[in-house]
Amino acid sequence: MSSIVLFGPPGAGKGTQAQRITESTGLPQISTGDMLRAAVAAKTATGLEAKSFMDSGKLVPDEIIIALIEQRIKNPDAAKGVMYDGFPRTIPQAEALSKIDEISHVIAIEVPDERIVERICGRYTCAGCSAVYHDLFNPTSEEGVCDTCQSTKFNRRADDNADTVLSRLKAYHEQTSPLANWYGERGVFFGVDGDRDIPQITSDILKILVK
Ligand code: AP5
Repeated sequence: MSSIVLFGPPGAGKGTQAQRITESTGLPQISTGDMLRAAVAAKTATGLEAKSFMDSGKLVPDEIIIALIEQRIKNPDAAKGVMYDGFPRTIPQAEALSKIDEISHVIAIEVPDERIVERICGRYTCAGCSAVYHDLFNPTSEEGVCDTCQSTKFNRRADDNADTVLSRLKAYHEQTSPLANWYGERGVFFGVDGDRDIPQITSDILKILVK
């Protein structure tokens, strides 16, 4: 099993690119953010514990996240490798991952902080298939209809507000960005300029993945 990691600040476009890369590579997307939101909605013990951290833009404790991943990668669809989206986010998470999976590429989607708030505050997601859109930068082709599954229902996330975004950025710079060096030392870290059109970024990522 050999897997890839999509890395970057909140709103960098990890989820957007993950959906496109899954279409090209077949690697299943594992988003810890999506898993946590599902747990919160289902009011599981994990969801109840995670909710206050997520609402305030803080990272959920490592032991909760690592347990979720250990369970998830037992699923047969993970046998040939996966694409992690938003995981790992701390050195202890990366160390735990190194014991259960081999990482061939960590792709960092680089976007300056000043772009992040406008990206996150305009985001909406299809309630049917989770496709990610943006009011200005990436709207549906037909207003109010998902391009992928034709659903007419969309969600906006509770933590997508300007105040929480600043906490999420702080957590990224303090706790997650040190992973760039950690993976750089292991020779698997690749940066892409994420401040460009979505298809250009996808094309760069796919070129890196064949290296
Ligand atoms: P999570 O759900 O992972 O949120 P995040 O990292 O903050 O990332 P986002 O999902 O907000 O952004 P994205 O990079 O996927 O961007 P997207 O493609 O949507 O985590 C949420 C919370 O859960 C965390 O705060 C934490 O509490 C907890 N958590 C999750 N994982 C954890 C972990 N491992 N450890 C501890 N806690 C954890 O794009 C954003 C918007 O921009 C969209 O509207 C999109 O259409 C638009 N866009 C995308 N690309 C472009 C482009 N190139 N140009 C213009 N617009 C673009």
